[in-house]
Amino acid sequence: MANQPRSIASLLFLSLTLLLQFCSGKDQLQLNYYSESCPQAEEIIKEEVTKLYHKHGNTAVSWLRLIFHDCMVKSCDASVLLDTANGTASEKTSGRSFGMRNFKYIDTIKEALESACPETVSCADTVALSARDGIVLLGGPRIEMKTGRKDSKESHVAEVEKFIPNHNDSMSLVLSRFQSVGIDVEGTVALLGAHSVGRIHCANFVQRLYPTVDPTLNPEFAKYLKGRCPTPVPDPKKVEYARTDRVTPMVLDNLYYKSILSHKGLLLVDEELVADPTTHPFVEKMADDNGYFLDQFSRALLVLSENNLLTGDQGEIRKDCRYANRD
Ligand code: HEM
Ligand SMILES: *[C@@H]1O[C@H](CO)[C@@H](O)[C@H](O)[C@H]1NC(C)=O
Ligand SMILES: *[C@@H]1O[C@H](CO)[C@@H](O)[C@H](O)[C@H]1NC(C)=O
Repeated sequence: MANQPRSIASLLFLSLTLLLQFCSGKDQLQLNYYSESCPQAEEIIKEEVTKLYHKHGNTAVSWLRLIFHDCMVKSCDASVLLDTANGTASEKTSGRSFGMRNFKYIDTIKEALESACPETVSCADTVALSARDGIVLLGGPRIEMKTGRKDSKESHVAEVEKFIPNHNDSMSLVLSRFQSVGIDVEGTVALLGAHSVGRIHCANFVQRLYPTVDPTLNPEFAKYLKGRCPTPVPDPKKVEYARTDRVTPMVLDNLYYKSILSHKGLLLVDEELVADPTTHPFVEKMADDNGYFLDQFSRALLVLSENNLLTGDQGEIRKDCRYANRD
């Protein structure tokens, strides 16, 4: 009898969880959501992502950044893919989207889906599964992802800066942003490991080089960076950038943590990850153990990929990822 109150409590907890899941749209998500409506969907995405990767390796890197910019801003609803229309600016025009690339190749993937199964597979699922398959091509973990996301009809351009941190925001602000979508400190540290791949334009770190070199930056590395970014204001006609992981810039691995521990992070937030006592222990652990990093990365990316999904009759299956459907 002693455990009766506990079972009532757990029943209550269960109903609450179910209610919460219902409200957040996770009820619609399921493994292989398209198994009847478009059984080839996941295979088509994987094939297209792989073909694109072999032609332009950086597409896989783009899909990894894209899922962050889609899911973090309100919902995983492909709002980030909408072009400026009807007088509403695209999220792509936000300063936070600086450097995002390869949007035309998401169109390639979606076109392949449309020709097999018209108006069936959402752009939001295309973004999520492309990231999943891109991560594998980058040597990362295979993450089991559910599908059934819906696409938004509008851009959330006014809210991008509320959700996506800036390169020089404080770690406490960064942590609170991620916490607001259900990602803990450990998960946040793991997700930033995405900066193990790709490039960062000089505009995002020249403030750490000029007029004086940030004393937290490794002096040798600062010299190298000044070579990559020779002027305090980057030349807009040149594509000037550097990489955090110069050894394996196309592999999602824990070299990022080793670099930042030796104070060779490009962004101020990378350095803060090391300096902040809340995040530092996880940086150490991830630098020591690639398997642990990949486990935490998978766990956090999965949470991100299910953030605040559209439910019921909200949203639509966009035909062209750049525009809402015409009613
Ligand atoms: C505090 C959080 C974050 C900040 C402030 C941040 C900021 C940035 C900045 C400024 C760039 C450089 C863009 C450019 O110059 O082209 C970048 C690149 C990138 N970010 Fe983040 N980021 C954050 C978190 C994340 C997360 C969570 C992911 C994915 C899980 C991610 C994935 C990437 C990738 C893959 C690139 C390289 C893109 C490319 O080479 O085209 N970032 N990020
Ligand atoms: C962060 O960097 C931007 C330029 O990218 C600058 O305008 C802003 O003032 C900086 N913010 C802080 C808190 O230093
Ligand atoms: C413009 O707005 C109308 C009505 O809100 C909508 O039906 C249409 O799809 C929008 N156009 C684009 C290109 O998004």
